[in-house]
Amino acid sequence: MTALGPDARLAGGVDGPAHLLELLAPALEAVRKGTAERSGPLPAGRPTDAADAVRALGDALPEEGAGAERALVELARVFAAHAVDPADPACVAHLHAPPLAVAVAADVVASVFNSSLDSWDQAPSATAVETEVVEALARLVPFGEAASGVLTSGGTESNLTGLFLAREHARRTAGDRRLRVFCSAEAHFSVQRSAGVLGIGEDFVTAVDVDADHRMSPAALRTAIAEARARGEAPAAIVATAGTSDLGAIDPLREIAAIAAEAGAWLHVDAAYGGGALFSRRLAPLLDGLSEADSVGLDLHKLGWQPVAAGVLLLRDGALFAPLARRVAYICNEDDEEAGYTSLLGRSLRTTRRADALKIAVTLRALGRQGVGELVDRCHVLAWRAAALIQAQPRLELFRDPVLSSVVFRYLPERGSADEVNARLRRTLLRRGRAVIGRTEFGGAVYLKLTLLNPHTTEAELRRLVDDVVLAGRTED
Ligand SMILES: Cc1ncc(COP(=O)(O)O)c(C=O)c1O
Repeated sequence: MTALGPDARLAGGVDGPAHLLELLAPALEAVRKGTAERSGPLPAGRPTDAADAVRALGDALPEEGAGAERALVELARVFAAHAVDPADPACVAHLHAPPLAVAVAADVVASVFNSSLDSWDQAPSATAVETEVVEALARLVPFGEAASGVLTSGGTESNLTGLFLAREHARRTAGDRRLRVFCSAEAHFSVQRSAGVLGIGEDFVTAVDVDADHRMSPAALRTAIAEARARGEAPAAIVATAGTSDLGAIDPLREIAAIAAEAGAWLHVDAAYGGGALFSRRLAPLLDGLSEADSVGLDLHKLGWQPVAAGVLLLRDGALFAPLARRVAYICNEDDEEAGYTSLLGRSLRTTRRADALKIAVTLRALGRQGVGELVDRCHVLAWRAAALIQAQPRLELFRDPVLSSVVFRYLPERGSADEVNARLRRTLLRRGRAVIGRTEFGGAVYLKLTLLNPHTTEAELRRLVDDVVLAGRTED
């Protein structure tokens, strides 16, 4: 054996791609075999089966390695057999999108070079590609020429970074007043968590009431701001949601933007889910007012069919990134910057940051706005079809009409507690390996959710899914 060992080969360099190809073919064959071992989006059985199957492969850190191909093929097969497959039409619990093959292939290329966006000398091509992607998405908002942005790990990091910039902005005028953040009662939990991390305090986030359509009420927002001022607090930021995680509800962005401007508060729009509507000419008007925001978070691993992670934070004005600017001797220096060696360190809370923009750039070029928009439209239509099928079932009750691509409903049992029956029927479908459907709560009651993100799902597959829910409900009745 050589010092490096025959299987410890690198993916990059002159011979790297050839070695990678040698490994990719058997890995993908193992994925095919593992997928064929289950008959649905997950294998039937107990929740602990996956851990047992992984453990059965032997020691996670053996003294002597098994070799690249064997380790890869064995683990890839078990991984695929025990995965929850987002490409299966009955995998509809979360904003868990089936990634496009072209994007996965591009992601392999990004991994080969392991580019890191914190410095130019690790990532000249990645820096160019990320800049291009951010500019294209900013035009879609549409933001003006001054706009800028950065790739993030997702909505959570976009919300954290948006609120960090808001906090820095507010500090300039707040004096010694406590800062307060406002979001809707149905905003993502990462808003509160970010406020905690940033020292604003989770208790200093007001969850503003929503209207009958689960959109933030502008009147309630005005009242909450007035009350905060009366307590001597400074309204630092309003976080509007464009696409809540369950219902896809979109807050009235234009009205909220006017209130933010009056209050002198930063407006961050969490468009992690609903931002995908920007690709659809039919649905884009739902996001009217988005361009009034100071910062916007979009997630292309949701309605964008990218492998995780593909978050994007866009700023109306790139100068607003200033609080993140750093001169770090070992990463970026002014003279290098002046000579054109631009580093993107000053746009992110992270240091090492992978080239997630490559897969997005390839996808946007491959499909164009129209192509991505058609995928979004198709999922929207599927949600309405699912709602119609649910309404046609006497034992199912639709909670609200779909807005984007999710449908919330519940099973109405003949006897017993509806909450318990709905919770159990979801687990029955998991145990049988038939479907992965979502579970949530409204007004303290348990509801079920279909998040339709597979644009290739057929009417027949949708029907089978709804029938399976009813059957599982009857079993639990
Ligand atoms: C509205 C909204 N915001 C933020 C997030 C968090 O996104 P991520 O999981 O990509 O961090 C989600 C996740 O589903 C979401 O639905």
